[in-house]
Amino acid sequence: MKTNLRGKDFISTQEWTKEELETVLHLAFDLKMKWGLDLPSRLLEDKTLFMLFFFSSTRTRNSFEAGMTRLGGHAIFLEPDKMQISHGDTPKEIGKILSSYGHGIAIRHCDWGEGNKYLRDVAEHARVPVINMQCDIYHPCQAMADLMTCMEKKGSLQGKKVVMSWAYAKSYTKPLSLPQSVIELFTQFGADVTLAHPPEFELMPEILRNAGDNARMSGGSFNIVNDMDEAFYNADIVYPKSWGPLVAIKEESQMVDVIRRYESWICDERRMSLAKEDAIYMHCLPADRGIEVTDAVIDGPQSVVYDQAENRMHAQNAIMALTMGGR
Ligand code: CP
Repeated sequence: MKTNLRGKDFISTQEWTKEELETVLHLAFDLKMKWGLDLPSRLLEDKTLFMLFFFSSTRTRNSFEAGMTRLGGHAIFLEPDKMQISHGDTPKEIGKILSSYGHGIAIRHCDWGEGNKYLRDVAEHARVPVINMQCDIYHPCQAMADLMTCMEKKGSLQGKKVVMSWAYAKSYTKPLSLPQSVIELFTQFGADVTLAHPPEFELMPEILRNAGDNARMSGGSFNIVNDMDEAFYNADIVYPKSWGPLVAIKEESQMVDVIRRYESWICDERRMSLAKEDAIYMHCLPADRGIEVTDAVIDGPQSVVYDQAENRMHAQNAIMALTMGGR
């Protein structure tokens, strides 16, 4: 258990040790129990979190904001177009100035090639921890909530087959951040992770290397297949979710053409029957119903999507309490 996390940025789980992440999980479960018992958890009294959103959100905004209320502090919702960012405020100024008013800066910036750099530029100049609410490369708070959910449903991940699969979607070219965070984090915790996607939807090479290295260290495994049925076979946990062909293809118009080729990559009851009988279905939401997943699966008995959404608040409260408060 680590007791010295105060001031540490949470930009990716890969930059935290397994012991540090276990400390977060331990506190998250404790805070969830207190929430269930309606006991107070005022660990960040009089503290302020700034939440800067360059991209829309339902779960992330509301779980952070409600979480700060729960911890006895206050969260401020910021949108770049209501600030002076478009008129010249730099990441350095944002980091220095918001640090002088509060105790944490949380940022969502998913633009490909820009988001993670923006977070790191703010963090370089901030005197308070920077928390990643999703960038172009990582979605670490979602991955922590997902890990918590899997531990609740399945216990230890050691020896469990976890499938992170691409799925078809029409709505927009979604970031790589969720699958990348999931494969890094779940391999750190000893899972047998299978990544499945059509050939054009590969993830960033350094993330794949990290997942392989993590698996070797943790006694888990990591492999990649290009067939959704093969991946689902005998799985304990399936996580089918769309992302864009951002690594392989540069032109947006070409991306749409490539995505259209893979309409058959939907999570339906036939595919779920390939996994173990007690397998769980995961999605971080929002999902493209009827396109990424059928209603029967997402609303069915194997779905844990509402547990995942609820656990966002508890996992994030633990991260905030440890990095913005504590010793
Ligand atoms: N899963 C997730 O991050 O949801 P929002 O985009 O609604 O915040």
